[in-house]
Amino acid sequence: MRKRIGIIGGGQLGLMIAQAAHRLDASVVVLDPASDAPAFAEADARVVGAFDDIDALERLCEASDVVTYEFENVPGDILRHLEGKYNIKQGIAPLFDSQDRLREKDNARKHGLDTPAYTPLPVVKDGTPMEEKECQALTPQERMIQLGFAVGRMGFPCVLKTRTLGYDGHGQVVISGFEDIGKASELLSVPCILEEKVDFDFEASVIMVCNGQDIIHFPVARNIHRDGILDLSVVPTSGLQRDGRENDTCRRMTSACENFMKSCGYRGILAIELFVRGDRFYFNEMAPRPHNSGHYTIEGCTTSQYSELCHFLLDMPLRKPELIAPTVMKNILGQDLDSAKDIVAESLRGAGPGIEVSSSSDVVNAFCGEAGKGVYVHLYGKTQSRPKRKMGHMTFVPMTLDRFYSEWASRFV
Ligand SMILES: Nc1ncnc2c1ncn2[C@@H]1O[C@H](COP(=O)(O)OP(=O)(O)O)[C@@H](O)[C@H]1O
Ligand SMILES: [Mg+2]
Repeated sequence: MRKRIGIIGGGQLGLMIAQAAHRLDASVVVLDPASDAPAFAEADARVVGAFDDIDALERLCEASDVVTYEFENVPGDILRHLEGKYNIKQGIAPLFDSQDRLREKDNARKHGLDTPAYTPLPVVKDGTPMEEKECQALTPQERMIQLGFAVGRMGFPCVLKTRTLGYDGHGQVVISGFEDIGKASELLSVPCILEEKVDFDFEASVIMVCNGQDIIHFPVARNIHRDGILDLSVVPTSGLQRDGRENDTCRRMTSACENFMKSCGYRGILAIELFVRGDRFYFNEMAPRPHNSGHYTIEGCTTSQYSELCHFLLDMPLRKPELIAPTVMKNILGQDLDSAKDIVAESLRGAGPGIEVSSSSDVVNAFCGEAGKGVYVHLYGKTQSRPKRKMGHMTFVPMTLDRFYSEWASRFV
């Protein structure tokens, strides 16, 4: 019988997990609150329900042999209940540890990774972080004073972030001078963390899959953000490789991340975002699910983050990924969607060299040239487009960052 993978969350990550699962002949059940969630187009069975709807989650688990998650904010107590009854193969520990930026950074340090300097805010007199209720009871002046003192100790520039529920730069404010403190202090109505703003050379991500015995990592991507949202992932990058191989910094970084994952006892997939400065690297945050910066692995590597997650879920051996050729991944946000569609239309008209287009459900892959070389357009089929909303991505193989900037960047906003 086909194995059934249950996915909590039906966004683009769920969609791409489902596509990989189907290639491995597994069937897929997806849970999402939105009836038009992207992954529903690829799912064999659907559960429409909220992430805190225990009945809906139980229905998903009942219909699955193994369950994974692509959404990070399922309440911890609900997951704990499910973990006792069903095969949530990654367990809930990595999810729980990643749900709070303070817990996440404490955990990273405890298991051997450096982080930027950080401090919880607001705090009570002895320095204990305040609970949400206590935060709400603070007056605007008390918030300003708390932040002012902490910034005085940390120094400019720094970043104030909500401890929970932040994503794509939401829930954080950069504090560059005294004039930013008033506005930033409004965030302190919920528990926050104040971090040193790292003057990094670049950002990178290490994506790993571990089955308890073997651990693999994907070639490390350099990540370029715009307005706090990932814009480009580039592999390889000069700061991390030499003569086509991982350089010393990269090897130390990947082995520190692998040791971290093993030391925490995590299983399944884990993505770690890092800041790299010189030969040093700092843990920023982690996600126990496929990562946006790993989209490039679908066409840029011999096996993708989605396939290896499915290998883990289906008890199949892990395979070591190799880079096929230099690759650039560009996120398609709402404001880029028309350009991406134009590129697909050009492909369809045969405007590019040797063009072939395939389409499955709402996803279009336009590829120019032979398989393994080309421009691949993934559109997630989201029904509503908004500026800054992730609507799709494009992967260019082979491609360097310089060539991307000179040949393609001008086509996007
Ligand atoms: N301490 C920091 N120093 C420098 N840049 C930061 C820092 N924290 C966040 N950033 C920038 O903001 C981006 C988003 O922040 P992050 O903490 O990863 O939150 P999220 O991705 O959940 O929105 C980072 O990728 C980085 O570009
Ligand atoms: Mg991030």
